[in-house]
Amino acid sequence: MNKPGEGHDARQRLEQTSPLMQDLIVARLSRRNLIKGAVAGALVVATGCSPSSREVVVRSGSVEMGRFLFPELARGISEDQAVADGYTAEVLIRWGDPLFADSPVFDPQHLTAESQSRQFGYNNDFIGFVPLAPGEHGAQRGLLCVNHEYTSSNLMFQEFSWVFRSWITKATCDVELAAHGGSVVEVEAVEGQWRVVVGSAFNRRLMAKGSPMLLTGPAAGHERLRTSFDPTGTQVDGMVNNCAGGITAWHTWLSGEENFDGCFLGEVDQTHPEARNHALYGIPDAWYQWGRFYPGFDVSTEPRSPNHYGWVVEIDPLQPTSTPKKRTALGRLKHEGAESIVALNGRVVVYMGDDEKFEHVYKFVTAGTFNADDRQANADLLDHGTLYVARFNVDGTLNWLSLVHGRGPLTAQNDFYSQADVLIETRRAADLVGATPMDRPEDVQPSPRTGKIYVMLTNNDERSSRQVDAANPRADNVYGHIIEITEAGGDHTAESGRWEILIRGGDPSDVSVGALWHASTSEHGWFGSPDNVAFDADGRMWVATDGNDGCDGLWGVETDGPLRGASRAFYRAPIGAEVCGPCFTPDGQSLFLAIQHPGDGELASYDSPETRWPDFKELVPPRPAVVVIRKNGGTKLIG
Ligand code: FEO
Ligand code: CA
Ligand code: CA
Repeated sequence: MNKPGEGHDARQRLEQTSPLMQDLIVARLSRRNLIKGAVAGALVVATGCSPSSREVVVRSGSVEMGRFLFPELARGISEDQAVADGYTAEVLIRWGDPLFADSPVFDPQHLTAESQSRQFGYNNDFIGFVPLAPGEHGAQRGLLCVNHEYTSSNLMFQEFSWVFRSWITKATCDVELAAHGGSVVEVEAVEGQWRVVVGSAFNRRLMAKGSPMLLTGPAAGHERLRTSFDPTGTQVDGMVNNCAGGITAWHTWLSGEENFDGCFLGEVDQTHPEARNHALYGIPDAWYQWGRFYPGFDVSTEPRSPNHYGWVVEIDPLQPTSTPKKRTALGRLKHEGAESIVALNGRVVVYMGDDEKFEHVYKFVTAGTFNADDRQANADLLDHGTLYVARFNVDGTLNWLSLVHGRGPLTAQNDFYSQADVLIETRRAADLVGATPMDRPEDVQPSPRTGKIYVMLTNNDERSSRQVDAANPRADNVYGHIIEITEAGGDHTAESGRWEILIRGGDPSDVSVGALWHASTSEHGWFGSPDNVAFDADGRMWVATDGNDGCDGLWGVETDGPLRGASRAFYRAPIGAEVCGPCFTPDGQSLFLAIQHPGDGELASYDSPETRWPDFKELVPPRPAVVVIRKNGGTKLIG
């Protein structure tokens, strides 16, 4: 989600650490633009050929180089979604839809926690697809693993008021707690028509409360994780603000807890041992009033409780009764996603972003190796390994700086007494080792085809001209950019690499924006605020936005070849919504998108939303939903 006012604490740290680099940046960017211009001038020709007169086809000799062969969708904004000609986008599951045989029918005027706990949650974000064996008559089957990031109370509750808080009761808080978390949903397709398998034994709801989880790894059991309701320091009753994530090679679901600061209210004395820690994460931020009814969300009574959140949670969707595990080895931050890849030496590398202004890009490298023959052997792979944070150097090189207790500044001299302290205060450790403060790192995704890693830097309107650096070259960066990382030797476990800016968002026809796209990118093809990213079955990169000028959507972005840096519009969300979770089936025939907070906007409410998508019925509020997109005729989406 795109929330205002993030990052003020981090900004103060940046001013102390970031040198002025303007001259070097200008030199670097000029060189990049020259290369871009040369390629574009040599190879791009606009044609009036099929499939549409708007399409730009690039040829080198007789070979078509463009990889996104669909008619580009026009820029615009509407109450309904829109997809490129020749494709169909259908709603698969909405907030409140049933998951179990006994799930109550959705009744938006009588929401209860009990009902919500048996229904699909709110604000779907990450989508993962875990394939299952084909069903009867060859039906394609799989499990969707879906995060429910947060609740939009203004659109959920008819009694909501922007002015008074009297509408907030224990009952409304319980509904919110039950609408957070995640869902596992079995889906199946017969002749390309997807449907939810209501009552599947795999279906599961995970919530912010009432979903027991374990803290594992180096910080588990540490006294800073012990509370009055959990003297062991290992148990948590749920997960919150789960944003993006990833599916591992052994088909578990990694779910990133992001803006957990908003779950806490109360205050701690500035002399309290956790006060500095909480300040660095913006705690308490009191978006929700849960702490009025549950002390675990009130730092006045449970000052260590926030240390239970901000982790990557590993969930086994194939074992519906398994206990999710918060993997502390991966660090505590505002986790956007956790996308992993198996390195050549068999170790698993998880790439992660900390989504706040001036925060950092991380990776975790497992100590052990992936076992393709024994799924259970990978069960606790993520409890042991090394956490790194990225420093983007001005010369285009990159260093992964290890966050290991006892190394460099991570010692008792700086109040790090163990690896648990390093992990609980990951942000402070990253600052001390000299990590580069970035423009809100969202999804960080390795390409399965090339091994290159793509970092979505969504925006940062608080970066001043004094704070620009090579990797974050624009002040007041409202459109964001995408960085490409190449690990040294193609080895994902390497401690160094190179980086380059792939695109800078915004309208390329307005020179004051400072956008950077391949010259073939049309007026519809540029975007701002890249957020989630996925690669399709053939290795094409697709980028979803949150906060794009006018309307969010999904774009195809060329990452290599003569069209590198070109972008093409494919899908547009209904007004007020962001697009999350792009997720392709392994056969490349279906694309799932999570449409989050449709109808939201300034002063939008249950009675007055900006759209009532997807039901379009009076008194039925807009509903976040997962849509599935297919090519008409049922072939691969592209080609
Ligand atoms: Fe939940 Fe960073 O978006
Ligand atoms: Ca996001
Ligand atoms: Ca992703």
